[in-house]
Amino acid sequence: MQVLGIDIGGTGIKGCPVCTETGEMLGERYRIPTPAEATEEAILDTVQSIAKEFSWKGPVGCGYPGVVHRGVIHSAANLDKSLIGVDLAKGLGSRVGRPAWVVNDADAAGLAEMRFGAGKDERGVVIMLTIGTGIGTALFVDGHMVPNLELGHVKMRLHKDPKYQDAEKLVADSARRKADLSWKQWAKRFNRYLAYMEKLLNPDLILLGGGAAKKGDKFMKYLEAQASIKTATLENRAGIIGAALASRVYGDVG
Ligand code: BGC
Repeated sequence: MQVLGIDIGGTGIKGCPVCTETGEMLGERYRIPTPAEATEEAILDTVQSIAKEFSWKGPVGCGYPGVVHRGVIHSAANLDKSLIGVDLAKGLGSRVGRPAWVVNDADAAGLAEMRFGAGKDERGVVIMLTIGTGIGTALFVDGHMVPNLELGHVKMRLHKDPKYQDAEKLVADSARRKADLSWKQWAKRFNRYLAYMEKLLNPDLILLGGGAAKKGDKFMKYLEAQASIKTATLENRAGIIGAALASRVYGDVG
């Protein structure tokens, strides 16, 4: 099947048609900056422009950076709060193409990596962490996904700071840039987050994806965990490929 995969992010909305049998992207990834006011209309307009770029009329699978239940948005940590309660799958279906579905972006990236990337044929407990504007988390047990994990929002604090905050505010790539941390300083923080994840889930394998993952040579040498750690291999394609694939898991809900 050919599906237009769309990855909605905090800074960019990216898309490309994908062959769901091979995981191949059938063209050049097309990116439009996320509208400053990322309301439902603004997002649908942007996705429609991406569809137009590929003259697309078929099925659309979309990854969204928040909790998604049956196409309905339940959280918007790094996007406009007016999206909460919106049936984005329905909106996409009527504006862009049918069928249409929407899933969490980290779940999408995880699905792609488990099927075609660094997690291929991995059994046991695998967690995928995407490091970008936020921290996305996806959990797989013997290849089956537990959706909407949202462990970027567990509470952490810096040494000596009495205030706990969402972990992603301290360890996401956006936090590294904001605090102007070296990779070594960032890795020290991230190791505390990894220890937290290990305590909760005791994974066999931790996959690191998202924008930062392609810079693995800068930070992998500083990371420590009981489980094996690997960087994702599909890089910024994982979100798009996984969004297209997600229909197999969630059914055509558009
Ligand atoms: C959201 C997650 C998302 C992650 C990465 C977090 O702020 O709550 O749903 O997967 O960012 O985009």
